[in-house]
Amino acid sequence: MTPMLIDNIGLLVTNDPQHDGTPLGLIANAAIVVENEIITWVGSSTDAPRKDVKNTVDAVGRCVIPGFVDSHTHLVFAGDRSAEFRARMQGEKYQAGGINYTVELTRKASNGDLLNSARRLVAEAVTSGTTTIECKSGYGLTVEDEARSLAIAQQVTSETTFLGAHVVPKEFKDSPQDYVDLVCGPMLDAVLPHAKWIDVFCDKGAFTADQARTILKAGMAKGLLPRLHANQLEPGEGIQIGVELDAASVDHVSHISDADVSALAGSNTVATLLPSAEFSTRSAYPDARRLFEAGVSVALASDCNPGSSYTTNIPFVIAVAVRDMHFSPEQAIWSATRGGAQALRRTDIGHLSKGASADFSILSSPSYIHLAYRPGVSLIDEVWRHGSRIK
Ligand code: NIG
Ligand code: FE
Repeated sequence: MTPMLIDNIGLLVTNDPQHDGTPLGLIANAAIVVENEIITWVGSSTDAPRKDVKNTVDAVGRCVIPGFVDSHTHLVFAGDRSAEFRARMQGEKYQAGGINYTVELTRKASNGDLLNSARRLVAEAVTSGTTTIECKSGYGLTVEDEARSLAIAQQVTSETTFLGAHVVPKEFKDSPQDYVDLVCGPMLDAVLPHAKWIDVFCDKGAFTADQARTILKAGMAKGLLPRLHANQLEPGEGIQIGVELDAASVDHVSHISDADVSALAGSNTVATLLPSAEFSTRSAYPDARRLFEAGVSVALASDCNPGSSYTTNIPFVIAVAVRDMHFSPEQAIWSATRGGAQALRRTDIGHLSKGASADFSILSSPSYIHLAYRPGVSLIDEVWRHGSRIK
């Protein structure tokens, strides 16, 4: 492929601090060169190498940012839970138990319908600037249904996560330990060809800390990498378990103690915040300033699922993070790009520097700040992935 030049970028977010000494690595009046899906040059437009370039894209002064890395979604499911959402907005509390309703519908759905629905959600995510997406199982909860959920997830992304420990399904209501044994045994074996990560919903109404530790360790012994849903509904040991097992990320972290913050600060574990889950369950938002002040790496993700957060829209997540969780616009953009990449332990995405995958969006605005400043307005003009335009 001949080199392609993206020129006349009004403001470029590289996430490479060498350019301006800040985490966003901003360059005004910038250009990038892409060759064979990879970025081969980044700098000021006036210095851009133009000799071999055959193909030039004029950004016309617009802002360019790295593609969003949505490191937490649940896309393989059937039906929706709009009635539950409606009741919640009238005062009902969100409970983990609602998951079983989606499990019932998902078990009955055909592979084709589940795949089409997951593809529709991925297409929706791309439209709002997401170029990498993680996807969990967790609405099958039988050996066959978890394996097929992950085989479907694998058709839409390489970042697939086994979440057989989402809730204890109804048929195991009186024997939860038997379900844990199933998850750690035959279910784990069946999903192995389709999963990269293992996750547990460690919370009230789902799995205990001891169960979470057992399940994550069983997955790790078979080569899966740990991450977990921690402290969404109440304080608990989830964050500490994540740090202890060197999980790539602990997600939600809505209830967080000083000891949790210190444990994260001294670790390689990212705290992934999911503002749209608090928004859609009308729950208290965690204050991200505590995490940033302690030096914790923070990611932002959509948590797209039919129960607690039915959105794929990262610009919306950014707007809520800035408005209600006290992220600065800079922290929010970084967390939804490089932070998401760190939460997936990926160094090839989430930044626009030489050698990185050419995954980026061209905004219709002159600055990334507009993503929070103009909430609900579609500002993602173009989306490029691996050097090809996908929107
Ligand atoms: O991340 N917390 C656990 N799982 C999802 C909710 C799933 C559902 O309610 O269907 C979450 O919020
Ligand atoms: Fe989730």
